Amino acid sequence: MKSYRLKSDDASIAKAAQCLGQGGLVAFPTETVYGIGVDATDKEAVLSLYRAKERPSHNPLIIHIAHPEEAALYGELNDTIRRAMMHFWQKEKSSITFIIPFKKKSAICSQAIAHKSTIALRLPHHRVAQSLLMAAGVPIAAPSANISGNLSASSADAAWQQLEGRIHMLIEDEQPLTRLGIESTILDLTGDVPLRLRTGAVKDEILHRYFGTIDLYEEQEKSVHSPGLMGRHYAPSCCLRLNARSCQPHEVGLSFGRTIMTGGRREMNLSQAGNMDEAAHNFYEMLRLLDDGPDGRIAIAPIPMTGIGHAINDRLHRATAGMIDDNR
Ligand code: TXA
Ligand code: MG
Repeated sequence: MKSYRLKSDDASIAKAAQCLGQGGLVAFPTETVYGIGVDATDKEAVLSLYRAKERPSHNPLIIHIAHPEEAALYGELNDTIRRAMMHFWQKEKSSITFIIPFKKKSAICSQAIAHKSTIALRLPHHRVAQSLLMAAGVPIAAPSANISGNLSASSADAAWQQLEGRIHMLIEDEQPLTRLGIESTILDLTGDVPLRLRTGAVKDEILHRYFGTIDLYEEQEKSVHSPGLMGRHYAPSCCLRLNARSCQPHEVGLSFGRTIMTGGRREMNLSQAGNMDEAAHNFYEMLRLLDDGPDGRIAIAPIPMTGIGHAINDRLHRATAGMIDDNR
């Protein structure tokens, strides 16, 4: 398939919306990471998305909507859910995905939610994502713009590197990197107590402050809550060595703050100032730029468990799942 790269002007957004209407696959920026979108009501388009991404068909997609009011078309809302959507989506403009009961007979095809009884809904705030949703006039099913298991993309180049030839078009952000750089937080509101599945752009402290109590996925019995949280995920093609203090000669280094990973072949710093938000913003792109392929190894400085550092450490641990701990 020939893929096209477009700027994010009105004409391109109109073209992309038309492409979605014809069952096409469009990669686009959100404020978290790039997504690959299809019309969530179009079964064939959804199936082609699973194939393009090599994603197992049991792993449901996040459905993106333009307005909070659309949530009632696809999910069963109660007061708690409605208030949380207003607070986080409308008032705080947060990057949070809510898991709620799926509305039977909704226009969303059941393949998009992997035939589950729940649906993941997200309202992106990025101008391009918003304009695309409005122009397309349909809910957009959009996983992160990467091949299943690989690094998420926070730049147009990163999305292109993985998806050229697999999608119809890519809309480029005006900015080199997406603002937040890490995926949305996923919060399951189907039980009595909110359950935070994936830690991400919205910190647990903020969820605690709003809800009082929340449960955390890591502290639960690991029955299958969220298929995408299992196995090796968010991984570059090289090996990673976590909590390192310096590099071995054959390694490349990912520094943080004043822990500079010298002694290796190359080095990049997530945030010289030690700022967690800046580190998240740079995280996926620096891993991509340091990835020298299966024979390479990135030594990574300790990342503090403060703020969005929880999400960064979560992704690093998932990226090393099943790998030998070689932290010598
Ligand atoms: O920031 C983001 O959330 C990005 C942008 C593009 O919106 N999207 C994203 O999608 O990260 P994806 O597909 O890479 O990750 C979605 C996660 C997967 O781990 C999936 O298993 C989980 O959401 N998920 C989707 N529907 C679910 C459901 N009904 N119940 C539990 N987990 C669900
Ligand atoms: Mg993903």
